[in-house]
Amino acid sequence: DLQKIKSPDGEVTRYFDPGYMNTVNCRSSIAFIDGEKGILEYRGYSIEELAEKSTFLEVAFLLIYGELPTIQQWKKFNKKVMTHTFHHNELRNMMKSFRYDAHPMGMFVSAMSALSTFHPEANPALAGQNCYDDPIARNKQIYRILGTAPTIAASSYRHRIGREYNSPRYGGYTENFFYMLDNLNDSDFKPHPVLVRALDVLFILHAEHELNCSTSAVRHLASANTDIYTCIAGGAAALYGPLHGGANEAVLKMLTKIGTKDNIPAFIEKVKNKEEKLMGFGHRVYKNYDPRAKIVRKVAEEVFEVCGKETLIDIAMELETIALNDPYFIEKKLYPNVDFYSGVIYKAMGFPPDFYPVLFTIPRIAGWLAHWSEFLDDKDKKIVRPRQIYTGHRKRGYELKVERD
Ligand code: ACO
Repeated sequence: DLQKIKSPDGEVTRYFDPGYMNTVNCRSSIAFIDGEKGILEYRGYSIEELAEKSTFLEVAFLLIYGELPTIQQWKKFNKKVMTHTFHHNELRNMMKSFRYDAHPMGMFVSAMSALSTFHPEANPALAGQNCYDDPIARNKQIYRILGTAPTIAASSYRHRIGREYNSPRYGGYTENFFYMLDNLNDSDFKPHPVLVRALDVLFILHAEHELNCSTSAVRHLASANTDIYTCIAGGAAALYGPLHGGANEAVLKMLTKIGTKDNIPAFIEKVKNKEEKLMGFGHRVYKNYDPRAKIVRKVAEEVFEVCGKETLIDIAMELETIALNDPYFIEKKLYPNVDFYSGVIYKAMGFPPDFYPVLFTIPRIAGWLAHWSEFLDDKDKKIVRPRQIYTGHRKRGYELKVERD
């Protein structure tokens, strides 16, 4: 509910809006969402068409620069990103110091934030507050972050399974990522093209979603002129939460816990009694089927053709059917979101559940970079600073309650 709050000076009316349900804090031309109709467009292109015809790196270019690349622009962008895929040996050593079973997202957030110390020339706190005004300097951070993110992600995965980290190889962006994950470290290893394309499509679907929690976090940090590496680490930290990018991991845990189709009705009752949450369902903006979830279902079929059918998919599909026909969920407009099926696909591909949020983070970085760049150029930009309604004590006299040593 919105409440009008009179400020103490009586002149300003402020709105109490927890979760910023109705607060608009920027103009943006990156993503368009119609939550009632279930429409998502990146820079005016429908998500369905991009998922069918484009590639993730091309979509990253579109999001960041506003237009699809020409052949020349594409060649340069692809080369620049791919030549920035190596990470510094000291960063690698830092990652190696994590506990053997560290959550890959914890490693990712830390490594990304550590990158700011490797590039002081790109830190407004050290290099001057206008250091991103130069397009060459700004682009350099974009290439570096897009290039290094999959390498950091792959290293966090290799660490988690107790293996040496792999160096980047050749090929496209997503193909190279598969090489760096390669369990066998076998020089003959070639990722299955269907799986490469499936992950690339998932990357496209996860690349951008306007002012979600993590993108807002990035813009929030950027508003203080924080360096872009720390901004991206902050976005990843927000994404880590199970209500946001951690939902894919949470869905898998939920399906595993349900265990069999027979247990679904009892689980649904628990959801209605608010003892459980139906993870992968519901969305702040979509009050209709999430258009990305429809595409993810199709991707799942293609992946199962190669990897074999993941048994949890039957529970997921039955759960979806029951929920979509239940008045409780219909009334609350709760539909599957992008993450309801993505975890099942990642499981079929053989990824451990704690790696799923990392698989979401890699592509979302494209959206974060687009928002960062848009924010830098926004003539109305301001440091983000919401107001509060103070509910605590006032004007208390100090009284000693503890003995001083
Ligand atoms: N399961 C059961 N009930 C739900 C769910 C759910 N997944 N989501 C919302 N509801 C219910 C709430 O209990 C609430 O009921 P009430 O009116 O009786 O109090 C009502 O629906 C409205 O829910 P809110 O929490 O107010 O909706 P909000 O917009 O704040 O939250 C969110 C959106 C966080 C995504 C929520 O739906 C949720 O927690 N979903 C599960 C986690 C998830 O899948 N997150 C991924 C989101 S997509 C993404 O980040 C890529």
